[in-house]
Amino acid sequence: MGKVPQHVAIIMDGNGRWAKKRGLPRNMGHKQGSAAVRKVCEAAWDLGIKYLTIYAFSTENWARPKDEVDALMKLLREYMKTSIKESSENNMRVRVIGDISALSEDLQESIRELMRVSADNTGLCFQIALNYGGRDELIRSVKSAVKGLAEAGKTVEELTEADISANLDTKGIPDPDLLIRTSGEQRLSNFLLWQLAYAEFYFTDTLWPDFGKKELAKAIEHYGNRERRFGGLVNETK
Ligand code: FPP
Repeated sequence: MGKVPQHVAIIMDGNGRWAKKRGLPRNMGHKQGSAAVRKVCEAAWDLGIKYLTIYAFSTENWARPKDEVDALMKLLREYMKTSIKESSENNMRVRVIGDISALSEDLQESIRELMRVSADNTGLCFQIALNYGGRDELIRSVKSAVKGLAEAGKTVEELTEADISANLDTKGIPDPDLLIRTSGEQRLSNFLLWQLAYAEFYFTDTLWPDFGKKELAKAIEHYGNRERRFGGLVNETK
C-alpha cells in the first residue's frame, strides 16, 4: 500500500436510501449507520490512520422531521454513553466539534464526560462533528481571533491564518489529508471548509451502513496512488 493519510474526514451519507432499499424506516438506516461508525473507527486504526473526523449532525439537519432528529439524538446519546464505558478499552481520544450548546443538557453532559475520560488515550483521535457547520465554525473562530487580537493590543489588520486555525474547533489537530463521501453525492455540504483546503477527495457509491474496512482500504489505496503520482505538485501549493 502507498502512503497512508494521517487524518481522514468522512461525510456519512446514504442511511435513508439503505433503509428504503430494504423497505425499512429511515431511522433503521441511521441505527445501522451508527454501527458502521464503530467498525470504521476500529478499521481506521488498524490501517494506520491517526485522526478520523465524521459528520454526524450538521447545523442544517435540524430541518429534518422531528422524529428523525429525535432518533439521531437518541443514537448519539447511546453512542456517548457506551463510549464512556469503553473508553479505556478502545483507547480512543474522542472530541466533539461544532456548537454543542444547542443540544439537550444531558447530551452535553455526556459529551463533556466522554471528552474528559478519553483525553489521555493514545489510540485513534476521533472527532465527531455535531451541530457542526463550516461557516458557523468560521464565524465563531474569526470572532474569537479578533477578540484575542484586541486583548493583545493588536489591530484586525494583523489577523493571520494561524489566528483563524488556532480558534477553530479543530485547533491542535492536523488538517485532513483525505475526505471520503459515501452514497454517490459529490458535495462538501458545509463540512470543514477551512480544513479541507488541500485534501484529496474520494467518492464512492457505497451507502454508509455498508461502508467498512474493505471500502476504507480502497479509499486509502486511491489516496496512496494519488500521492505517488502527484505528491510533489500537491505539496508545492501548500
Ligand atoms: C446521512 O444519511 C446521514 C446522516 C445525516 C446522519 C449520520 C448519523 C449517523 C451515521 C448515526 C449517528 C452517529 C453516531 C456517531 C452514533 P441520509 O439520511 O441523508 O441518507 P439519504 O441521503 O439516503 O436519505
